[in-house]
Amino acid sequence: MVRVGMLTSGGDCQSLNATMRGIGKGLFNYYGDGVEIIGFLEGYRGLMYNEYKKLTPRDFSGILDEGGTILGTSRQPFKMMRVIEDGFDKVAAMKRTYKAHKLDCLCVLGGNGSQKTSALLKEEGLNVLGLPKTIDNDLWGTDMTFGFQSALNIATEAIDCIHTTAASHGRVFIIEVMGHKVGELTLHAGVAGGADIILIPEIPYHIDAVCKAIQKREEEGKNFTIIAMAEGAINTDEAKMKKKEVEKKHAELPASFELAARIQELTGCEARVTVPGHTQRGGRPCPYDRVLSTRLGAAAAMMIEKGKFGYLVGIHNNEITPVPLEDIAGKLKMVDPKSDIIKQIRSIGISFGDE
Ligand code: F6P
Repeated sequence: MVRVGMLTSGGDCQSLNATMRGIGKGLFNYYGDGVEIIGFLEGYRGLMYNEYKKLTPRDFSGILDEGGTILGTSRQPFKMMRVIEDGFDKVAAMKRTYKAHKLDCLCVLGGNGSQKTSALLKEEGLNVLGLPKTIDNDLWGTDMTFGFQSALNIATEAIDCIHTTAASHGRVFIIEVMGHKVGELTLHAGVAGGADIILIPEIPYHIDAVCKAIQKREEEGKNFTIIAMAEGAINTDEAKMKKKEVEKKHAELPASFELAARIQELTGCEARVTVPGHTQRGGRPCPYDRVLSTRLGAAAAMMIEKGKFGYLVGIHNNEITPVPLEDIAGKLKMVDPKSDIIKQIRSIGISFGDE
């Protein structure tokens, strides 16, 4: 009997179920009754406290297009809490559960923090496979993460909707897009939604440059401006501050609202903020994600059959590419301000608020 564990960790996104389905269907197809799949509940917490359910072929049916996760999730355990807390050794507890179930492999569907933990478990001698989840597409070792394209559709739709009302009222609109510390989602949603200004953490903006871009549009007879702003975007002053100070400042007044107030003050234009927030992570996965997840899940099942463990199952140039977990752990994939895409977008007159 082959025994495989799986868990979904960190912020949820679309296509988690589609990925688990790919793994489950692949394994049952290959091993038939010879495989047992254990789904740990609410991320690493289920692995620590041995809370689980056995997954049968039925569990993987009808979930391809279902949002959320059939296993539940929780934030990965080493960000906010120490490894040993009140005498409870979390790593030892996870290893205990892994061994109690006599697992041959544990599949971790998670983003950056979660894959750091999976690399740690690998170091501790467990067989682990990571599957790249996140709407932020900020995971090192893969061109694309599942969730990103679905979130992109939603963020783009939000910008599309704002476009019409911004034009009717002649307003400046800031659409705050998720992405944590990385601007990939904002960049793509901004381009797809026809934003006039795109603000991302990788290119600190200057308020004067933002106002200049708004005024230039006015001079061209355009009475409204759309700004796609990453939730982690910073201005040039904030770029010089300590990260903790910036976080504290934005906790009091979110960056997008602060910017709207400044624009109003300096240009006299009426400015509004829209925050699509967690809608970007919700609902059904788009077709792209369903295909990507099915491929990644199926590839993970194939790797289990071959006894190939310790990798992030990534995709590069449209081919599945396993990358050692220790090579990607703790690395953030950010937008390169000198990349091709940035140059092309600049060349059509979209402002990044920096010049
Ligand atoms: O990492 C995914 C993400 O949606 C980020 O884009 C966002 O900053 C964060 O999670 C929000 O986290 P929470 O669900 O804890 O509010």
